[in-house]
Amino acid sequence: MLPVLLLAGLILALSIPGTSCESATLRFLGQTDFIVNETSTSVVRLVVERLGDPINVTALVLLEGVDTGDFEAVNAAAFLLSTESSKTIFIAVKDDDLPEADETFTFNLKLQSSSNGVTLGTTNKATITILSNDNAFGIIAFNSTQEIVVDESRRRNVPFTLIREKGTYGTVTVNFEISDGPNAAIEDVAPDRGSIIIPVGQAAAHFTIVIQDDQIPENDEVFTVRLTGVAGGALLSPNASSVQLRIRRNDSPLRFSLSVMAVSESAAIIGLNVTRGRLTDDGPLIGSVDTEVSVDYMVVSGEGVGSATPGVDFLDLQPVRTITFPPLVFRARLLFNISDDNVPEIAESFHVVLLEDTIRGDAVLVPPNAVMVTIEPNDKPYGVLSISSAALHQPIVINEDLTQK
Ligand SMILES: *[C@@H]1O[C@H](CO)[C@@H](O)[C@H](O)[C@H]1NC(C)=O
Ligand SMILES: *[C@@H]1O[C@H](CO)[C@@H](O)[C@H](O)[C@H]1NC(C)=O
Ligand SMILES: *[C@@H]1O[C@H](CO)[C@@H](O)[C@H](O)[C@H]1NC(C)=O
Ligand SMILES: *[C@@H]1O[C@H](CO)[C@@H](O)[C@H](O)[C@H]1NC(C)=O
Ligand SMILES: *[C@@H]1O[C@H](CO)[C@@H](O)[C@H](O)[C@H]1NC(C)=O
Ligand SMILES: *[C@@H]1O[C@H](CO)[C@@H](O)[C@H](O)[C@H]1NC(C)=O
Repeated sequence: MLPVLLLAGLILALSIPGTSCESATLRFLGQTDFIVNETSTSVVRLVVERLGDPINVTALVLLEGVDTGDFEAVNAAAFLLSTESSKTIFIAVKDDDLPEADETFTFNLKLQSSSNGVTLGTTNKATITILSNDNAFGIIAFNSTQEIVVDESRRRNVPFTLIREKGTYGTVTVNFEISDGPNAAIEDVAPDRGSIIIPVGQAAAHFTIVIQDDQIPENDEVFTVRLTGVAGGALLSPNASSVQLRIRRNDSPLRFSLSVMAVSESAAIIGLNVTRGRLTDDGPLIGSVDTEVSVDYMVVSGEGVGSATPGVDFLDLQPVRTITFPPLVFRARLLFNISDDNVPEIAESFHVVLLEDTIRGDAVLVPPNAVMVTIEPNDKPYGVLSISSAALHQPIVINEDLTQK
């Protein structure tokens, strides 16, 4: 009986396929989450392990979703012989020139359909994150680094354009600052610093700064508009992150060279000097000098005692009451003819005033913008009394009601 039973058992065993009662599990072993740079040397090693019975099995590792061309190959297969318990699969990253943000890919472990008796274990997914690359967030630069030259005249908007080269992933914030002028930038431009936001997908951004019209005579001022930082993953262009802004010399000062002038009645022709481009008589040139500017003047004299009468005591010899300075002319003279009469008079004066509202061209008035001309007492009004010369350097105020003839 015993041999028969043994034989029967053997026949039964042979009639069942040899592998039918074998089982194994296939899974990833070890690290399954990878973060890599996009370089041609970035290779991810995935280890596939078989647990259980030694069964020949073909493991497949397949990219989930569409092939975006980020890997040299998106399918890999590994044949594990019954004698092997694990095998390593290599996945190579493809280095392209396309700017890309961080991107995560999933690879799934699969079994070839013929792998009888083998099932998938729980660790059957691996992820590979390729870090943002090829300047995915862009390189920020000015569209041009050529010096920008502006006039101060009027409130002027100066436009600037920032370009975002390479990638446009993400929102980036760029900070700028204006500095390096002879004086603080805020005196001449507004704002003198700020932040520009460049939204996702945008390859350019614009901003403007306003040139302040300050009515202060100034020479050329050169400021630097500099990108000082960027947030959001982008970089600043090393060679185009600043641009010079030149505000041309402006506000040519116009003034008399004196505020008070004393002349004798016999002086005949007197000249009042008006200068352009200087804050003091022999100071350096300042403000615009190469444009034409003009200003009107007015002769003011009172009615009473102590006031010189136009046409009687003096004559304005100018055919027009406009003083014009052609380009690069810095001095003009106003001529008056003092009348010499024989009538005894006390000191008499008149004023010549530059009129701010009549300025044409890039000029401003600076003191003294009026001059008082005093015609000294003459023809012995009080016999021999005369005003000391010291007094003539001060404006003389004469009250008509109190001054005696
Ligand atoms: C990627 O490259 C950068 C700079 O080249 C390096 O600092 C960083 O460690 C790298 N990261 C990985 C995950 O290799
Ligand atoms: C496993 O594969 C090897 C090589 O192809 C083969 O020689 C062997 O017979 C296979 N074993 C089984 C059990 O199929
Ligand atoms: C740069 O942008 C400004 C406006 O901000 C524009 O006037 C200028 O023409 C641009 N320059 C170049 C070289 O594109
Ligand atoms: C900055 O330098 C790069 C490389 O040298 C060049 O391609 C680019 O045109 C330069 N940009 C400017 C605005 O000069
Ligand atoms: C006006 O300018 C002329 C020429 O520079 C000079 O000779 C003259 O003395 C000046 N007159 C006055 C009043 O300053
Ligand atoms: C100035 O006035 C006197 C008379 O007071 C006259 O003789 C002389 O010609 C005048 N000179 C000019 C240049 O007008």
